[in-house]
Amino acid sequence: MAIAKQQVIDSLKQVIFFAKQNNIVDLNMVDDLVVGEKEISLTVIFPKMEDPSVNIVYNSVVKTLKDAFGSDMTINVKPVAEKDRGLGPLSGVKNIIAVIAGKGGVGKSTVAANLAVSLAREGYSVGILDADIMGPSVPILFGVEGEQPGVIERSGKTYMVPLEKFGVRILSLGFFVQPNQALMWRGSMINNAFNQLMKDAEWGNLDFLVIDMPPGTGDIQLTLGQSYNVRGTVLVTTPQRVATADVRRAAIMCRQDKLTIPLLGIVENMSYFIPEDAPDKKYSIFGQGQTELLAEELGIPILAKIPIVGKIAESGDNGNPIALDLTSPVAQTFRTLVQNLKQELEKE
Ligand SMILES: Nc1ncnc2c1ncn2[C@@H]1O[C@H](COP(=O)(O)OP(=O)(O)OP(=O)(O)O)[C@@H](O)[C@H]1O
Ligand SMILES: [Mg+2]
Repeated sequence: MAIAKQQVIDSLKQVIFFAKQNNIVDLNMVDDLVVGEKEISLTVIFPKMEDPSVNIVYNSVVKTLKDAFGSDMTINVKPVAEKDRGLGPLSGVKNIIAVIAGKGGVGKSTVAANLAVSLAREGYSVGILDADIMGPSVPILFGVEGEQPGVIERSGKTYMVPLEKFGVRILSLGFFVQPNQALMWRGSMINNAFNQLMKDAEWGNLDFLVIDMPPGTGDIQLTLGQSYNVRGTVLVTTPQRVATADVRRAAIMCRQDKLTIPLLGIVENMSYFIPEDAPDKKYSIFGQGQTELLAEELGIPILAKIPIVGKIAESGDNGNPIALDLTSPVAQTFRTLVQNLKQELEKE
């Protein structure tokens, strides 16, 4: 007896894609469904392919359809990535780079902002997404506090249009929510907000989307790793052991099976101090050697060492990332970061 397509679709509703906590039919992951007498073929579209859930869903589709329509039925499942289909709201984004740290206050946002600006200066199309929902600082760092991103309608759906400054497209939850409001949010709200900034936004074609992640190892890190195709992470630490110990945990989390986000390298921030009146002197105020140990342990390079410079803090507070000031030696340090980052990306 011929099987109706709708019967197959109904069966496939039993297959859950856990990363998004829904079935693959309602998530629009099923395509190219062809139902024959002895054979069912379909494509399943995943946000990313390097994910154990691809296998789980694959096996579950085969089992579900054989259980429903007979074990002699041939089931052809073809898993593909959204990107390769030219699908998904982030399909125009070539490289998602997450900037993460274990501890708060080590300079993650400063590094993310200056990295974004440095990439844009080299002619890349760049976006920055402030995922630090509890303490968004990207609007301050880019001097766009109090401004509002635009909106456009497409196929009956509304999308945010990122602000643009210094050649960087910018979105932050700080544009929409008072920080003291967000403090009362539950994990699921934070995740939804993050997903909206990622997906309900008109990012367009970007070479790099830099994400300023919240400190530590929380929900957003999991969501990012499980549902997005992250090209790599940049770990930010300061030289002290308390900082490297925390970033080690964040790094280990990235390497867990269910996330497998590649680690590109480490930025040691507040690495050393050079007095303005004695530029030939270099003081390692916070000590030395811990970042090297961590890099060796993780088998990843140190991408840059950024000095403590009053101007970094000052320019951040004024909304003019220091990397814009080409006369500053720090801008050169950020260019080195970009070069080393590109080198790591080419290696993979
Ligand atoms: N290399 C540096 N030299 C001088 N000041 C710096 C440097 N890096 C960061 N700062 C300053 O230190 C403070 C913390 O930096 P930043 O906000 O970038 O850290 P963060 O890791 O993003 O913090 P949070 O965990 O709160 O998000 C800021 O005032 C910033 O201007
Ligand atoms: Mg920050």
